[in-house]
Amino acid sequence: MFHSEIIERFKDTPTPFFYYNLDLLKESLKIVNEESSKYGYHVHYALKANSNIEILETIEAYGLGADCVSGNEVTRAISCGFPSEKIAFAGVGKSDEEINIGLENDIFCFNCESIPELIVIDELAQKKNKIANIALRINPNVEANTHYYITTGLEENKFGINRWELEEVLEILKTLKNINLIGLHFHIGSQITDLNDFKGLCLRVNEIQEWFYDHQIIVDHINVGGGLGINYENPEEEPIPDFKSYFKLFHDLLDLRPQQELHFELGRSIVGQCGTLISKALYIKKGIKTNFAIIDAGMTELIRPALYQAYHKVENLTSLAKEEERYDVVGPICESSDCFGKALTLPKTSRGDLLAIHSCGAYGEVMASQYNLRKLPKAIY
Ligand code: LLP
Repeated sequence: MFHSEIIERFKDTPTPFFYYNLDLLKESLKIVNEESSKYGYHVHYALKANSNIEILETIEAYGLGADCVSGNEVTRAISCGFPSEKIAFAGVGKSDEEINIGLENDIFCFNCESIPELIVIDELAQKKNKIANIALRINPNVEANTHYYITTGLEENKFGINRWELEEVLEILKTLKNINLIGLHFHIGSQITDLNDFKGLCLRVNEIQEWFYDHQIIVDHINVGGGLGINYENPEEEPIPDFKSYFKLFHDLLDLRPQQELHFELGRSIVGQCGTLISKALYIKKGIKTNFAIIDAGMTELIRPALYQAYHKVENLTSLAKEEERYDVVGPICESSDCFGKALTLPKTSRGDLLAIHSCGAYGEVMASQYNLRKLPKAIY
């Protein structure tokens, strides 16, 4: 998958590091724009997936908006050129300081997740003599056809405003003079590879829109969040997700009112395949069933396998051996979950070999930690 000249270039670079393929990122962005612009949709890039400056500047150059979940992400997005009027600020626990950052920058919209949050944003906006645009994040976690407003699971879920709270929200909104309801926001989850799940979301949004319509409310903006998945098993076969079918599905199934604009918050599908974690084999150690390939990257650089039992394809970039062996590819951290894959078949691996852990562009480097006082990994573009 990697060109020999790239591998040659890696040879003397201290490992582990993230390698980003900006050409693939640009190609993905081009397709996102082509497919979303067919319907006039707005795509906000979810900074949480990867907030590297080079990556953000590249994405901004393609005209996307930003979806931020912290005050620092708002500040970073602005410093990388994203216009404030294209920045949405989400999150279940925005601090006063973070809300003030959003207010001072006159961002497009706060995605609000609770009644107390609405009240705080109103108070802070009043102090600044501003009107804050808000969208209500409505919890869509239950399938469209179930009894969503009486499900107790909804009460326990920290994300979004529950369906049964909406009457109260509308009453409270009438009293909050410094906020302006402009939209409804939804997000059903991440790494969704079955487009049918988004069909469920569309049907749910249609139902909720009917409810608002019955209450004489038509908001200008509908935001259906992110969540489109990537192919972790075969990244080389599908380096760019099927954006065409994704956007078309919303076009076919969502009942937008004529003046309504549709927004998306895509993270992983845009950056996921453009990042690779490059690591060096430190030791090959005999195990009972398989050998261990102990590499110099661990859960400190990529926590997804340890946290979500996530699969990332591992490739030995430098071994020329014809013979293959099975390895548990593990990191150096003293945690049994510090493992990138069990019994993986790789060409015979030796100390010093470079290994690529694929599909790390999203939720890789951003989730890196300094546990064990390890250095944060570097990025190469
Ligand atoms: N919008 C909202 C409200 C979200 O909560 C998320 C992700 C996104 C957009 C972007 O979703 P994406 O298009 O990237 O799926 N650390 C986990 C993923 C957490 C996703 C959280 N929310 C992982 O490594 O899989």
